[in-house]
Amino acid sequence: MCGIVGYIGKRRVVPILLEGLKRLEYRGYDSAGLVYVGEDATLKRHRCQGKLANLEEHMEALNVESRVGLGHTRWATHGAPSEANAHPHCDCSGSLVVVHNGIVENYHSLRDELIARGHRFDSETDTEVLAHLIEENLDDDLAAAVEKSLKKVKGSYALAVLWDKQPDRLVAVRSHSPLVLGVQESGGAFLASDIPALLPYTSEIVFLEDREMAILKADSWQVLGLDDGEPVAKKVHTITWNAAMAEKTGYKHFMLKEIFEQPLAILNTFRGRLDPETGQVSLPEAELDNAYLNSISRICLVACGTSWHAALVAKYWLEKWTGVPVEVDIASEFRYRTLLLDASVLVVPISQSGETADTLAGMRRARQFGARIVTICNVVGSTMTREADGIIYTHAGPEIGVASTKAFTSQLTALFLLTMLIGQERNTITPTEARELGRALIGLPALIEEELPRLRGETDRLAEHFTKCRDFLYLGRGCNFPIALEGALKLKEISYIHAEGYPAGELKHGPIALIDRDMPVLALAPKDGVYDKVISNVEEVKARHGRLILIGGVDDDNLHRLTPDLIRLPAVHEDLNPILYTIPLQLLAYQIANRRGCDVDQPRNLAKSVTVE
Ligand code: AGP
Repeated sequence: MCGIVGYIGKRRVVPILLEGLKRLEYRGYDSAGLVYVGEDATLKRHRCQGKLANLEEHMEALNVESRVGLGHTRWATHGAPSEANAHPHCDCSGSLVVVHNGIVENYHSLRDELIARGHRFDSETDTEVLAHLIEENLDDDLAAAVEKSLKKVKGSYALAVLWDKQPDRLVAVRSHSPLVLGVQESGGAFLASDIPALLPYTSEIVFLEDREMAILKADSWQVLGLDDGEPVAKKVHTITWNAAMAEKTGYKHFMLKEIFEQPLAILNTFRGRLDPETGQVSLPEAELDNAYLNSISRICLVACGTSWHAALVAKYWLEKWTGVPVEVDIASEFRYRTLLLDASVLVVPISQSGETADTLAGMRRARQFGARIVTICNVVGSTMTREADGIIYTHAGPEIGVASTKAFTSQLTALFLLTMLIGQERNTITPTEARELGRALIGLPALIEEELPRLRGETDRLAEHFTKCRDFLYLGRGCNFPIALEGALKLKEISYIHAEGYPAGELKHGPIALIDRDMPVLALAPKDGVYDKVISNVEEVKARHGRLILIGGVDDDNLHRLTPDLIRLPAVHEDLNPILYTIPLQLLAYQIANRRGCDVDQPRNLAKSVTVE
């Protein structure tokens, strides 16, 4: 998720851009840049790699009087972090610039076409194609050129454009990536990816909707439909948040915000990689061709913590749909144990940060045996992505909360795509199955989006009864057993309540000794192939007066007789239950920790990225 800020009005623009970018830094960034119209009426662009402070220091030496400009902090999705890849990006002449947040899905083909027509590219980014496309369509009106150009673009974008031949306006467009306007009675207009950037100047906010274009001038603003060019009447909202709350767009914690960002994170992770009609998957960055995929003898998934739980789920999927044997290792074990690897083994390190020391060390050891390394990672340009043979990026955006949520469900999404790709290439998934799996995944974000508000309320009510517990057991079977582990980890790492996840069938081999009236036991009971077995285990708990919580199907009338503490979920393809059933566990852990007054976003003793052994 990049950060965009723009302003046009009577004030000096550079301080506004820098302050606005600073207030968006929670969105994460690896480079930053800005542009304004200079005194000679040409565009002046300044970009720096690394922290925003580098750009601030660079601008300190300049005394800029300009009253119109754009700023951007980059969260890399295509092209490693560098000054050359930092926004704003310009056209061949340098007289038009764009800043962008989102993904141009068809940028490869657009870039090839533009180069064939003589355009020169300076970056590896998908964004730069937008500048050259608009350049081609420029006539006497910037907005018209932008509108015409975007007809060729597939993907998501929050886009802002400045042209030195019409320096009296900024043109901005929203399509599946947030963009808000700030307006003032006294004139002047702002635009930003998110509200925090605007609050120091105005609390009068206009929310752009998808497929809307804004034209901002020093003394007026207008919103048009991108597809029909018709004016759109917009409501001006008065925001009452304080700045601290605004960074979390009204959520009390980043973790809660990121739980609610999961539909978009899952969508962005499969966007452009999954054909909605055929279910065909393409993962070009993974560098896995058909010959190699048909030669692999084994897959080793290596990770830590929550990422290890994603690996455990993927084992069920990969062995079911590809017929390839899968090993799953905790990285701190993998890096020291005897490894039997060779070039026919596909090793997949999974990491949100791409910097976890144990996972990185495991990856380097696997390399010594000649194994093929494809990493699943959320941070472009991180160490693991630079050292792997191939990459499957999760597009979850920056995850600020130490407890991983949207990165985890995005990892599961990426692993599901990998499963489908390997199955399709090895012909172990039929075209009918591919269509079914693809449709199930494509339908998931909207379903989660719909369920989140209800689940937030239900888990809060449930948390009230369990806030003082000292122990918790989580049970699951099959591909949901790792989700029991994940639910337990979420609870213990943010509420400090001791919690354990177990395969439900393992209860009778010891842990059942723990069951009494004081022991909460949460069981995942979707209607799948092992449902009856889970219910038998639940009966064992009930017979010993354990405090049961069940997460099960909305249409399952059997659950009521077992416990009143129920959370119900809609039916999805049973292979996708691990993604869906994670959501209430994340929320329950959050609600309990919040009620206990814990530091949810930065729990004691933990770090977001464990870069030491
Ligand atoms: C997850 O909630 C934890 N914060 C932690 O287990 C984390 O998943 C683990 O440290 C791995 O981090 P990575 O995904 O960045 O490699």
